[in-house]
Amino acid sequence: MNADLVVVGTGFFGLTVAERLASAGRKVLMIDRREHLGGNAYSEAEASTGIEVHRYGAHLFHTANERVWEYVNRFTRFTSYEHRVYTTHRGEVFPMPINLGTINQFFRSAYGPAAARELIREQAAELGDRVPENLDEQGVRLIGRPLYEAFIREYTAKQWQTDPRELPASIIKRLPVRYTYDNRYFNDPHQGLPVDGYTAWLERMADHPNIEVRLSTDFFDSSQPVHQAAVVGQVPVVYTGPVDRYFDYAEGELSWRTLDFETEVLDVGDFQGTSVMNYADAEVPYTRIHEFRHFHPERDYPDDRTVIMREYSRFAARQDEPYYPVNTADDRERLKRYRDLMAAERDVHFGGRLGTYQYLDMHMAIGSALSMVDNQLS
Ligand code: FAD
Ligand code: NA
Repeated sequence: MNADLVVVGTGFFGLTVAERLASAGRKVLMIDRREHLGGNAYSEAEASTGIEVHRYGAHLFHTANERVWEYVNRFTRFTSYEHRVYTTHRGEVFPMPINLGTINQFFRSAYGPAAARELIREQAAELGDRVPENLDEQGVRLIGRPLYEAFIREYTAKQWQTDPRELPASIIKRLPVRYTYDNRYFNDPHQGLPVDGYTAWLERMADHPNIEVRLSTDFFDSSQPVHQAAVVGQVPVVYTGPVDRYFDYAEGELSWRTLDFETEVLDVGDFQGTSVMNYADAEVPYTRIHEFRHFHPERDYPDDRTVIMREYSRFAARQDEPYYPVNTADDRERLKRYRDLMAAERDVHFGGRLGTYQYLDMHMAIGSALSMVDNQLS
């Protein structure tokens, strides 16, 4: 094989490793089992409207990491888009995350920051010193019962398809409440969306004479030349697929949540007036609706058609796309044993969201790939 390194997976982690090493003069062969590159950040124009749709869920770029910000700007410019989310609860729309605007609308009040803080402190004291035994009690302890029950309880139940009284308290460590009217979703100093879309950005990263990309190529398919048994031990491998799959589930399956998306083109210019509307209540089966035109108000999209996507959340089966680690106590035990196997696997470097069983935002996947290049591959 004419390659100094094989990278399994063309998401941000794999692309960052490949681009850095290719620029340093090494020949990199990338494979991906999907028919497109880019991993979960991939997007495409909906055919009848040209509106950019994020196939694997809405992706908003944000970072406070200057090294990552400098790096990503080599491949794309960013718009000035700032993300904001609203939620519908009992026929009324509130700003998210919970802030002074949410509090004053919910309690029909006009509290200033100090009075609102005091109110939430009193409501959160309901359980006294008792250690929360489940997610429900944890929610009450963090923000008090009224806000928890309105905005968090049923939404979380939909995300997990489980009654929060049966979920561990540890799922939610904090529930941020902002005592200002600032409802920007991310606090990071750098945020925005790629001017020419995600796919153009991802393709530019792979556009190097030292990088070859083979799509529709599964690392565990021994009928094609770049498979596990043929490659491992012959050439260094960076593997960004699921870690349990790599070891043929020897230590059991790690559990994930997945999402189902229902995309629809509507004959209206604007469906909901904003990019993301959450649905806090149990009666609505989906967790949120994305309306993609609002991610790019600067673009010249048709004004009589729009694309929306309803999002549903559930536990993943083996054939589903793994999206968010569930991270139960059993998962953590299994992961420990997989880490031992990973350490013993010479010249295979496990990275990215699936390879390390960790939720990583894009900037984290890129930052961690840059570190792997520095520490293990240079
Ligand atoms: P991935 O992008 O998942 O890439 C892994 C690649 O490996 C895939 O292309 C897969 O096909 C390939 N692969 C797997 N197994 C094999 C195999 N056997 N053979 C060959 N190829 C294989 N981040 C943000 O910063 N902002 C957001 O708003 C945001 N929203 C998100 C929403 C959702 C629903 C999800 C799931 C993630 C979101 N992220 C967001 C995170 C973002 O998607 C990740 O940071 C990014 O995808 C990480 O890149 P990665 O390379 O680790 O993994
Ligand atoms: Na997202």
